[in-house]
Amino acid sequence: MKKLAKAQRSIGILTAGGDCPGLNAAIRAVAKSALHYGIHVVGFLDGFRGLVENRFVTLDDRMVSGILTAGGTILGSSRDKPHKMDMAGTLMDMTDVAVENARRMHLDCLVCLGGNGTQKNAFRLVQRGGLNVITLPKTIDNDVAMTDTSFGYDTAKSIATEAIDRLHTTATSHHRIIAVELMGHSAGWLALGAGIAGGADVILIPEIPYDIHAIAEFLHVRRQSGKRFSIIAVAEGATAVGAAPAADVPEVGAGSKKNSKKRAGKKIVESDVDGGEEHGLVLIREPMVNRIVRELQSLTGIEARMTQLGHVQRGGTPTATDRLLCTRLGATAGELIAARHYNVMVSVKGDTCVPVPLEKVAGVARFVPADHPWVRAARVVGTCMGDHV
Ligand code: F6P
Repeated sequence: MKKLAKAQRSIGILTAGGDCPGLNAAIRAVAKSALHYGIHVVGFLDGFRGLVENRFVTLDDRMVSGILTAGGTILGSSRDKPHKMDMAGTLMDMTDVAVENARRMHLDCLVCLGGNGTQKNAFRLVQRGGLNVITLPKTIDNDVAMTDTSFGYDTAKSIATEAIDRLHTTATSHHRIIAVELMGHSAGWLALGAGIAGGADVILIPEIPYDIHAIAEFLHVRRQSGKRFSIIAVAEGATAVGAAPAADVPEVGAGSKKNSKKRAGKKIVESDVDGGEEHGLVLIREPMVNRIVRELQSLTGIEARMTQLGHVQRGGTPTATDRLLCTRLGATAGELIAARHYNVMVSVKGDTCVPVPLEKVAGVARFVPADHPWVRAARVVGTCMGDHV
């Protein structure tokens, strides 16, 4: 690291959790605005792991030029958490090391770009290590609390909408039901937004448990009315009435939770082990959409197919809306750093970006209210939400 002018302030940036379009635009905006205020900027590699392992690069103007439109993150990302990090096969609490590294580098502030997990992990560094932190809301799931929206969501919604458009033409040609599974973890924002924008006939989200018979009846009536194809947008977390949430459903093909606890290493106590994880790896589950399509084909007698969009939704260049949002969020972060206003998430409120206390964001997820205006709009235009109304 280059020697800093005596009183020069310094910040670190990291990107954590699942990547999404807009991360580079946000890195660029935070770095350029900090540089504008004469602040030195470094970027930690691969999320919180880079902070723990002291791996970073200097982000000067050259490094952050030309990245506005690039997908992914130039810093790399990971789902590593400082308080529970896999260190050569053993889960360790590395919080003190992370804090010590930040202090040794005389960082005024650590800027963390991430979703719900990152908000929690960043807040832990404030609580346990007294670090100054600022976060930005990043997720295609759009489920970060205390903000109107998160960057990455608009791009993912556009990609998913385009996919639904394309499925429409082939479903029409073959008179089929086609169900498409969209990401969103346990929130339905992505399936709902893209489902409405793409004109899906049925939209299934985790917040409104579905009844397979209600959907079959809807599809039957639709066919009777002369519409010979149907598109179903399924959120990956969608669940049937009375079933356990998708996250609790046993995983396929990767061993049990019990095993993962046994193999997790000596430093971790039972209650620290996350559901659906095996030795730091997320278990691969059978897509929910498989079951839905199988059941609907058998109940309706209509030929059905399924598509899982998966990580396609997180790839490539961000939309203009996300580029603009990232630039606004990052520039606001720079202003807050200049003003030494720390321990906040920069949130979107209408046309403005405002700081909200990190403690109010950490550990809180934002789900679709069952009576949300988007849900009401979908129902009014005749979309089946999977339930009996
Ligand atoms: O949180 C973003 C997200 O894409 C979710 O929608 C999805 O459930 C998850 O990440 C997938 O994670 P991974 O990239 O680790 O498979």
